[in-house]
Amino acid sequence: MTKLANLEDLFKHLLQDMYYAEKRISEALPKMAKKASSDDLQAALETHLKETEDQISKLEEVFEMCGYKKEREVCEAIEGLLAEGEELMKDAKKGPVLDAALIIAAQKVEHYEIASYGALCSMAKKLDQEDSARLLHEILDQEKATDETLTELCNDIEEEAMEKAA
Ligand SMILES: [Fe+2]
Repeated sequence: MTKLANLEDLFKHLLQDMYYAEKRISEALPKMAKKASSDDLQAALETHLKETEDQISKLEEVFEMCGYKKEREVCEAIEGLLAEGEELMKDAKKGPVLDAALIIAAQKVEHYEIASYGALCSMAKKLDQEDSARLLHEILDQEKATDETLTELCNDIEEEAMEKAA
């Protein structure tokens, strides 16, 4: 039997994925913040941790509004992205090089989230789940803002890494 037979099945599946992903991200962010040398980067990761905790609550609201049960769906993509991030944290030299590695690891996660929430917003609208679409859009906007903040920090940190290497 086809597991995902229609758009609603796909929507439900993606929601479960992101619920799992956000929980894993909320575990990873404090570790990443602790490793950051730049105060601004540390602050950005800590701010995003608070947002992520809020996103978990928002997803719980979406489950509630749509009448879905939360199931334990492992999101392989986030496991892979976080494992790669862990590896970078282990291998990169503390200071601007590690900070640059933290930024790219965090941005890969953000881009995955932006793609997922973009799709979820669009599907929620098609399924006439306007309130869910609004909440998912709020999450999408937070992910995009975090990505932009990280891009802004990236330039200075990379320059610092170059100076220290010189
Ligand atoms: Fe998130």
